[in-house]
Amino acid sequence: MTMQIHGTTVKLDPRDPAFYTNPYPYYDELRAKAPVFYWEEYDIWCLTRWHDVDALLRNRKFGRTVLHMRTREEMGWDPIPDRVQDFYDVELYSLLELEPPEHSRIRGLVQKAFMARQINHMRGRIADICDRLLDKMEDEAEVDVLSAYASTLPVSVIAEMLGVPLDMTDHLLDWSHAMVRMYQMGCTEADQDKAIVATRAFVSYLRDLIEERRKAPQDDLISQLVQVTEEGDRLTVDEMISTCILLLNAGHEATVNVMGNGLLALLKHPDQMAAWREDPGLTYTAIEELLRYDTPLHLFNRYSLADVEVAGQHFPFGSKIALLLGAANRDPAAFTNPNQLDLGREVNQHVSFGGGVHYCLGAPLARLELDLSLPMLLKRFPKMELAQEPTWQNSYHFHGLDALHVRLK
Ligand code: HEM
Repeated sequence: MTMQIHGTTVKLDPRDPAFYTNPYPYYDELRAKAPVFYWEEYDIWCLTRWHDVDALLRNRKFGRTVLHMRTREEMGWDPIPDRVQDFYDVELYSLLELEPPEHSRIRGLVQKAFMARQINHMRGRIADICDRLLDKMEDEAEVDVLSAYASTLPVSVIAEMLGVPLDMTDHLLDWSHAMVRMYQMGCTEADQDKAIVATRAFVSYLRDLIEERRKAPQDDLISQLVQVTEEGDRLTVDEMISTCILLLNAGHEATVNVMGNGLLALLKHPDQMAAWREDPGLTYTAIEELLRYDTPLHLFNRYSLADVEVAGQHFPFGSKIALLLGAANRDPAAFTNPNQLDLGREVNQHVSFGGGVHYCLGAPLARLELDLSLPMLLKRFPKMELAQEPTWQNSYHFHGLDALHVRLK
């Protein structure tokens, strides 16, 4: 292993393929030897145990930002360079950059549309999209199921909910991928430039679309948000743009990777895949298990909003702490035989959707998409098997495959 543990300090290169391909043996060792550790490469303290991660997600002494309490200058942070300002202007109103009460106000306005009861009417549309994609795969002997199926569905669904025309999905994906690079380690100036071009195009497109919906409302989320804005002046156009960009970005990447990672896990456990095919009653626990077993989002940050002690470690105001969701999901103190895939797992309190006030807004939608798309795929191609060992994207905290080639017949 390429990891060095000295007391509570850990040296571990997140760009080492041995690690990002399969981080779980590293997590096991960390949880046992240094459950709360300082990760040198990231310059951040990290939590690995389920109990600590789950408790911190719900602890109101921690937030996703401190900028509602202190300025960047007061925090001693560098000012944002002018050339990337446009990106951070959009971030300013993102739910993921806000804390209550601002966060509660914006979340309250969008949340209703994403509650299980509301999104259930998308069931028929999601099944139609899956069917259309599966029909296209019928004539193939071998496909990359990630590009042919998994990556098209979530973006189509979220675009349709918002009211973005389906022929825009390729642009949405390009803009979204360029923007997401900003959060990744090793983001270069060239990446930043691309992210800014994408941000400007995305913002300008949404501004026009919002204006169109203002003039001629339709049965979609953007029209609903416009109405809210006009009625109570509670959501500004800029807040609406940030929210739509967040929904479009957050609404597809993670779901694509749960489908890809989950499918790979199934292909590697053909007995369990067969059991699920034979017993559709397994679907509920199977989806939760795939979410737990190989979650796509491994690291989320929090700041301490007071001087706090966590797991025996003192964190003064403004300290940054990373929650390792993938490590928490494999903690033997919370899950029986955590490294085993068990589609029938009954007790499964995974943290793949986070917890507390920032709990994933799209969880009911993501669950519905998985609930339909995976069983439909398994049913359509009963002989599906892995065609070649896939490779993983070189991005530790967005854990997903480059491609997933399967033989269908
Ligand atoms: C299986 C797929 C998904 C996973 C694993 C996932 C995971 C997460 C996690 C872990 C968080 C919390 C981040 C934190 O606490 O720091 C989060 C937040 C969020 N997710 Fe998801 N997500 C998924 C799908 C979706 C979808 C489909 C949507 C959109 C419709 C969505 C929209 C959001 C939004 C808006 C937030 C921010 C909520 C807030 O700050 O109040 N997610 N997601």
